[in-house]
Amino acid sequence: MGTRNILITGGAGFIGSHVVRLFVEKFRDWHIYNLDSLTYAGNLENLKDIESEGNYTFLKADINDFSQIEKLFKKYNFQKIIHLAAESHVDRSIANPDAFVRTNILGTVNLLNAARGIWGSNVENNLFYHISTDEVYGTLGETGLFTETTPYAPNSPYSASKAGSDHFVRAFGETYNLPYIISNCSNNYGPNQFPEKLIPLFINNIIEKKPLPVYGDGKYTRDWLFVKDHALAIKLLLEKGQNKSTYNIGGFNEWQNIDLIQLLCKIMDAKLNREEGSSASLITCIKDRPGHDKRYAIDASKINKELGWSPTVTFEEGLEQTVEWYLSNQKWMKNVTSGEYENYYNKQYS
Ligand code: NAD
Ligand code: TYD
Repeated sequence: MGTRNILITGGAGFIGSHVVRLFVEKFRDWHIYNLDSLTYAGNLENLKDIESEGNYTFLKADINDFSQIEKLFKKYNFQKIIHLAAESHVDRSIANPDAFVRTNILGTVNLLNAARGIWGSNVENNLFYHISTDEVYGTLGETGLFTETTPYAPNSPYSASKAGSDHFVRAFGETYNLPYIISNCSNNYGPNQFPEKLIPLFINNIIEKKPLPVYGDGKYTRDWLFVKDHALAIKLLLEKGQNKSTYNIGGFNEWQNIDLIQLLCKIMDAKLNREEGSSASLITCIKDRPGHDKRYAIDASKINKELGWSPTVTFEEGLEQTVEWYLSNQKWMKNVTSGEYENYYNKQYS
């Protein structure tokens, strides 16, 4: 039977923090370990409401440090692993691909080796659940959707590193019989997202009346999913997903960047009691991102048909909730943009 210990990596990040909170609340007879090295993207303030729960422990560790990881795996003998820790921002990967190779590929292989080391051949109750992205499929034209059988064709160093990690997870399944699931999800949005990604960056810039840098002509399409719906899909797949399978997760919700930005501007004008059109006047088209993928859109019918998952929050509701969260948590944003959040671990944990 083994322990009832679940390891979540990257739990101090955006999606990870929602997954950790959901699991701590819903899996009361499991112990949830959140392993995170607290890079610039890790923020323990995201979890301050649950940090004193009895079934939660934070472990500060780096997945790139195999001996540290191996010790923790031997100590806690995790039965299930949900792997979210990663370098996650495309623009940073263009500036510095090496960090993406290290954490996303080599770090994932470290976790796979450590899991193999503690599980051996008796893997009946074990699962290595790897969280990935739809960006591994490359780009779509005007029509069509990514399915689980779409060939991998990553275009950015970020998506190439995620593709590499997906291949290693699958290879460990085939070669060593390591039980695994991979899910490839579309763009997430919601509370606690680091303000380098489109939606929180633009919310912050609108509040501060700074320019809104739209890459190219803004006619790039993304399929947006509210982060809490992603966390619910992850919980469902952990409980009921097929071993050695991959699942696509998406919002059935395609938006061209420029239309999304116009909607966001309208919501922000209303919430901030500013004159209509004042946020949109900050829109500034700038040089395009190199290798910019034109369109992502997910066919999520497999997880829908097999497990009954579909998004519960409409985009209008989710975006409104997100804007409200950022407006009522401006201290969180200030701590993030000033760097103050990096002191939270020292204050609370050491
Ligand atoms: P994020 O950047 O907000 O968080 C990443 C977390 O991983 C941070 O807490 C960071 O401290 C931690 N981390 C980074 N390097 C580490 C290391 N070497 N050791 C330990 N911890 C480390 O990312 P996110 O947006 O929450 O994405 C989480 C996962 O989901 C990633 O694997 C990403 O590829 C995937 N994903 C993200 C999206 C999205 O829209 N954000 C969509 C699909 C899939
Ligand atoms: P992003 O949030 O970085 O996610 P991803 O690149 O993983 O899809 O970007 C979402 C879209 O918004 C993408 O087409 C790039 C575009 N974008 C801008 O136009 N300006 C920006 O400042 C950012 C961060 C993104």
